[in-house]
Amino acid sequence: MYKLVAFDAYGTLFDVYSIQALANEIYPSQGAAVAIMWRDKQIEYTRLITQSDPHGPTGSKYYLSFWELTRLSLEYTLDRLKLNRSESQVEKLMHQYAHLTPFPENLAVLQKVKAMGLTTCILSNGSPDMLSSAVKSAGMGDLLDHVISVDPIRLFKTSPESYGLVQQTIAVNKDEVLFVSSNAWDALGATWFGFKTLWVNRQNLPYEALGPRPDYSGPDLNTVISVLDRR
Ligand code: LAC
Repeated sequence: MYKLVAFDAYGTLFDVYSIQALANEIYPSQGAAVAIMWRDKQIEYTRLITQSDPHGPTGSKYYLSFWELTRLSLEYTLDRLKLNRSESQVEKLMHQYAHLTPFPENLAVLQKVKAMGLTTCILSNGSPDMLSSAVKSAGMGDLLDHVISVDPIRLFKTSPESYGLVQQTIAVNKDEVLFVSSNAWDALGATWFGFKTLWVNRQNLPYEALGPRPDYSGPDLNTVISVLDRR
């Protein structure tokens, strides 16, 4: 049934909240607040940009890369929390963001998916440079057949064009794609687009109140294997 497993990157393969430890070192007891607001603002900016010009001839005219948005949302977060933001503190956190910790089960899961003979890819808002350094430092290079960034079309998820990049890159039907994301909004966008979806609910959160439910959900990436084993 499935020919391709397409993974979201940030939050799904790479732990965006792992940044909390470094943020706590720099800003004692503020690490969680920094990590959460930073992530929320980063995603808010992607939506603002894509929604404000979704039909530009070359993507949104307001487009900035995810890397630039990551820096701007960090700057906003530090100002909003009234934390000191020197150049070197911002650089330290940004450097860590380029080398986020992968979740512990991920490598073994990717190895199993490849051993089952399926194609693998990332589909991410991340810009190509930040994705390639994250993939490399997580040792996932050989386990991912394609790393697809929305950057060439300058439209972020959840635009249909962004999910459409998967089929532009790899010859598969929509229902042959298992799209895997820990971000419920991303699982919903992909479900609306027509992929089969797995929501990896790492934080035991309720699903979005809006829209159809994902086809599958589970507590960590090992659920990918249980779903594929059901074929
Ligand atoms: C990604 C972010 C949004 O696309 O999680 O990788």
